Amino acid sequence: MYAAFRSIGAYVPSKVLTNSDLEAMVDTSDEWITKRTGIKERHIAAENETTSDMGAKAAELAIKRSGIAKHEIDMLICATISPDYFCMPSTATIIATKLGLDKVTAFDISAACTGFIYALSVAKAFIESGMKKNVLVVGAERLSSITDYTDRGTCILFGDGAGAALISATEDKNEAIIDIHTGSDGSFADLLMTPNGGSGSLHDNPEREAAGCFMQMKGNETFKIAVRTLTSDVVEILEQNNIASSDVKHFVPHQANYRIIKAVGDALNLADEQVVLTVEKYGNTSGASIPMAINDIYESGRLQNGELMLLDAFGGGLTWGSALVPFAGKGK
Ligand code: UT7
Repeated sequence: MYAAFRSIGAYVPSKVLTNSDLEAMVDTSDEWITKRTGIKERHIAAENETTSDMGAKAAELAIKRSGIAKHEIDMLICATISPDYFCMPSTATIIATKLGLDKVTAFDISAACTGFIYALSVAKAFIESGMKKNVLVVGAERLSSITDYTDRGTCILFGDGAGAALISATEDKNEAIIDIHTGSDGSFADLLMTPNGGSGSLHDNPEREAAGCFMQMKGNETFKIAVRTLTSDVVEILEQNNIASSDVKHFVPHQANYRIIKAVGDALNLADEQVVLTVEKYGNTSGASIPMAINDIYESGRLQNGELMLLDAFGGGLTWGSALVPFAGKGK
């Protein structure tokens, strides 16, 4: 049995936070943000809109487009670092209930911006082992709830949204997800973290303060490691599978920073039309960014059956991953 990437869906909240809005909040400028990141605006969830609300909306679309009935879905994985509730219950179980999925296996994955690729690799393994047949992989983030809007080093980057894919069993090797690489290095954990709130920061820690529950990032160091790691990872996955970069129809990277995407794209000699870019309008939505970007090319009619996607991501942990995924659904 193989795992096929059957369909995609996404949800983008309506409220928009522009660079000029941020100019009024912190010491920054539209010019700086555009030049250093490529971001012009990001979407922010409504006050009462949760990560699971957005994830469920994205998943509902992915289910509809897959042609697979809800009762056939036997697992739901949610990649998120901004869950509805800290520790428990998982956001995946809440999404499953909102979708009306009955007694489905559901759990969250914490791999930050690489979460969607990690979740995809778990779905692939469960399907190939024969344990599950139809797995919903959701990436959903309400990063605005863990963003410090007084810190110009991070608040200009992040946005909210969700994306979802239905991965299903197939006997047709041409439809199969070809390969997925994942990796991590916890010795760089302090580059990108929410330091407080977990058992790593004890309750009597005098340093404990609300700001520690927000994301903190050593941006420039993270940037350099991201470019280095992503470049070698995508080169390796292509080489190991004897696939030329010219055979990739859509390079769908995690949308953290235009300069990172450009550096990796250049290393692979990719043409502009191969590179999927949404960072300008959504910013960095962590685990949601790759499925949201795939949904964009689907919605615009650019993603067709059989076309090869190369996914890559890098994030807190540190974690990274890449995947070679043919689109096994019907184009729009
Ligand atoms: O998604 C998961 C992984 N995350 C990433 O991959 C993010 C990686 N990092 C980045 O995208 C970039 O490092 C940033 C966009 C966060 C920062 O860009 P940079 O080119 O690395 O800038 P920098 O941190 O080296 O800062 C350069 C200057 C500093 O000023 P001085 O010391 O040169 O006077 C900063 O204080 O820019 C200043 N600066 C800002 N200025 C205006 C930092 N943030 C801002 C800002 N507006 N928002």
